[in-house]
Amino acid sequence: MTQAETRSSRIPDFHKRTPGERLALVAEMASLTPRECEALQGITGGLTLHIAEHMIENVVGVYGLPLGIATNFVINGRDVLIPMAVEEPSVVAGASFAAKLARAAGGFKAISTASEMIGQIQVLDVPDPHRARFDLLAHEAELLALANRSDPILVELGGGARSLEVHLIEQSPLGAMLVVHVIYDTRDAMGANAVNTMCEALAPRVEEITRGRVVLRILSNLAERRLVRAQCTVPADALAFASDGRSYSGRQVVRQIVEAGALAVADPYRAATHNKGIMNGVDAVVIATGNDWRAVEAGAHAYAARSGRYTALSRWEETPEGNLVGTLEMPMAVGIVGGTARTHPTAQVALKILGVKSARELAEVIAAVGLAQNLAALRALATEGIQRGHMRLHARQQTIAEEQR
Ligand code: MEV
Repeated sequence: MTQAETRSSRIPDFHKRTPGERLALVAEMASLTPRECEALQGITGGLTLHIAEHMIENVVGVYGLPLGIATNFVINGRDVLIPMAVEEPSVVAGASFAAKLARAAGGFKAISTASEMIGQIQVLDVPDPHRARFDLLAHEAELLALANRSDPILVELGGGARSLEVHLIEQSPLGAMLVVHVIYDTRDAMGANAVNTMCEALAPRVEEITRGRVVLRILSNLAERRLVRAQCTVPADALAFASDGRSYSGRQVVRQIVEAGALAVADPYRAATHNKGIMNGVDAVVIATGNDWRAVEAGAHAYAARSGRYTALSRWEETPEGNLVGTLEMPMAVGIVGGTARTHPTAQVALKILGVKSARELAEVIAAVGLAQNLAALRALATEGIQRGHMRLHARQQTIAEEQR
C-alpha cells in the first residue's frame, strides 16, 4: 500500500531519507502538485520578490527558514503531517518523537471555543462613567447591529458581533476611563483587520452615547475567548528507556516529568522556559501557515499571567494507573483565510498538507504540537538532559557554517 492509501503520519525512517524523498512522500500523502512541491522548496512557486513587494514596504529580498515535517501525529483520530518552519535544531525531531509516544494511546485530543476576538474601544473624559456604562449596555443591540454593518461578508459566513461588555477602569495613570469590549466572531480569519475596522466604525456612536472622547480602537491580543485545549496520555511503558548505561523505568520518567511540570506551575522563572518550549512547536506551525506569530506569542504569555502571577500553559499529571497525562490550554488567534495565509504560496501548501478545514481545526493542531513539544523537552530534561541530542544537531550546524567560510 502507498503512503497516500494508508494516510498514516507514521513514516518509519523518514528522518533518514533525503529531502527529495521526504517531499515525494509528503506530496503523495497530501496530493501536492509539482508547483506546490516547488513552493515548498523555495524554487518558483514560492515567495517571490513580486509577492513580497505587495506584502510589506521597502522590500529588498525574501528571507528563508528551514521547513520540516513532523511525523507520527494523530489528532482527534486523524493522522496529520505537520509542517514546521523553525531555525532551532531538535524541535521537529522532538515533536515527532513525542507524537510517537502519544500515538500509543490514540494520539492527541483537542477542542476549541468559537473564534471570538475582543475589540477594545477606549473612552476618556466621560463626565459620569457609571451612567455611561449603563447607557452603552442599554444600546447593546444597536451597537452590535452597527458593528455587523462593517463586514457583511463575515456576517453572511456566520461571524460578526456577539456581545458587548463595558469595563470601568477606576485607576489608570490618568484616572477613570471606560473600555468597551466588543466580542466579535471572526470565523476562519485571524480577524485583526475585521475587528479593527469594526471598532473604528463604532467609535463615533460610542462617543455620542457616553459624551466622552474615544482614543484607542483596536483588538486585544489577549484572546481569552478564543481558546484551544489539547490533551494526550502516554503509557508509562512507552517512557522507559536507557541511555549512557543508565536505565529509567516508565514510572520513574512519569514521576520526574510531573515533578518538572510542577516547578513550571509554581515558579515564573521556570514557567517562562517551559512555555518557550511549548511555543517552539506552536510558532513553527503558526509561521509555516502564514499566521501572525507575534499575536499568538502575546496572547500566550498574557494568558499565562492572567491570574496576576505568570504560570505554565500546560499541566502534567500521573493517572491512577501510573500513566502520564498532559493538558494544554491557551489562546490561539489563527486563520486559514485572508492575510498572509492567502498571499504566501508556501503557507497555502502548508495548510494543504495539514488538511485543516477551519481556523478552529488549525488551532487544535497547533495546540497538539505545542503539547508534544513540551512533552519532548520535559522527557529529556527530567532524565538524561537535553544537551546530548541538542549538541549532536548543533554540531551539524557548525559543519555547515565552516563549509561556508
Ligand atoms: C529550548 O528551546 C526549549 C527548552 O528550554 C524548553 C524547556 O526547558 O522546557 C528545552
